Amino acid sequence: MNGKVNRVVLIGTGAVGCSYAYSLINQGVVEELVLIDVNELRSEGEAMDLNHGLPFAPTAMKVWNGTYDDCQQADLVVITAGLAQKPGETRLDLVAKNTTIFKQIVGHIMKSGFDGIFLVATNPVDIMTYVTWKESGLPKERVIGSGTTLDSARLRYMLGDYFEIDPRNIHAYIIGEHGDTELPVWSHTTIGMDKLESYIERNDTYNTGALDKIFENVRDAAYHIIERKGATYYGIGMSLVRITRAILQNENSVLPVSAYLTGEYEHNDIYIGVPTIINRNGIRNILEIELNDKEKNQFNHSVKTLRESMAPLFE
Ligand code: LAC
Repeated sequence: MNGKVNRVVLIGTGAVGCSYAYSLINQGVVEELVLIDVNELRSEGEAMDLNHGLPFAPTAMKVWNGTYDDCQQADLVVITAGLAQKPGETRLDLVAKNTTIFKQIVGHIMKSGFDGIFLVATNPVDIMTYVTWKESGLPKERVIGSGTTLDSARLRYMLGDYFEIDPRNIHAYIIGEHGDTELPVWSHTTIGMDKLESYIERNDTYNTGALDKIFENVRDAAYHIIERKGATYYGIGMSLVRITRAILQNENSVLPVSAYLTGEYEHNDIYIGVPTIINRNGIRNILEIELNDKEKNQFNHSVKTLRESMAPLFE
C-alpha cells in the first residue's frame, strides 16, 4: 500500500463474490474494487448496481468492471470463481473441475505482472489455494485461503447462542480442512477469559454433549444451508472481508486461514486451516498451538484426506 490507493481485484461475481463486494463496500474497507467475471455482462451489471449505492457508502471508493491488466496494480486479488457444491456434493468433489479453471485464471493474473497477495475462497479451498500457490510462484505467505475462518465464526455464533454470550467474547477455533474432516480445538476454547471446561463445570445447566451437537452443526452448516437455499454466500462473503481488512489495514490479527505448512503441526507441503497472524504482507506467521492427542489425530486425518484428494492433480 505505502500511501498508494489500495486496490482489490475480485475474480468471480457470482453470489459469493458479490456478497464479498457488497460487504467490502458497506464496511468501507476498500478504495478501488475491480470486478472480473467470465460472464462480462454480469460483472458489468454488478459494477453498475454497486456504484449506484456509493453515495451511501461510508468512504469514497471506485468500483469498475475491469480486465486482468488491472491486477498489475492490485494489492489483493480475491478468487471466488469456479463451480460450487450442489446438494449432495462434497467440497472435495469439485477438485478436478475447479483446478482446470484456476490454472487459466492464475495464468492471466500473473501475466499482468501482479505481485500482491492472493486470497482464495473457491472450494475445495485448501486445495485451490495450493494450486494458486503452485501456479503463481508467489511466496507461500502471500497466497492465503479463507480456510476455517467461516467455520470458526459459525462455532463462535453457535456457542454464543448456547451460552447466551456475545460471540465476540467467545474464543473458539475450527482447524483442518474447510470441510468434513475439520475439527474444533476445544482444549483452547475460552468464554471470555474462562476456559470452556471450567465454565461448564461451574454451570450445571450446560453439558459437553451439547458441544458435540454444536460442532456437528458447524461442520455440516453448508449442507444445511444448501439444502434450504441452494448455496451459501453471506457468511463466506463477510469472512473474506474480515481477512481483507486484516491485510489492508495491517492489523496483525489472529485468523484461522488456509496456510502452507513447512513443518508446523509436523506436516509439510500442504495448505490447511490453522491459526495465523495476518498483516499487510500476508501471513506473518503460523501459530502452532499445543493440541491434545485427540485433536492431533483428527488434524492428521484431515491432512491425510486433503493429500489423497490432491494426489491425482500432481501425478
Ligand atoms: C461454506 C462454503 C463457503 O462453508 O464452503 O459455506
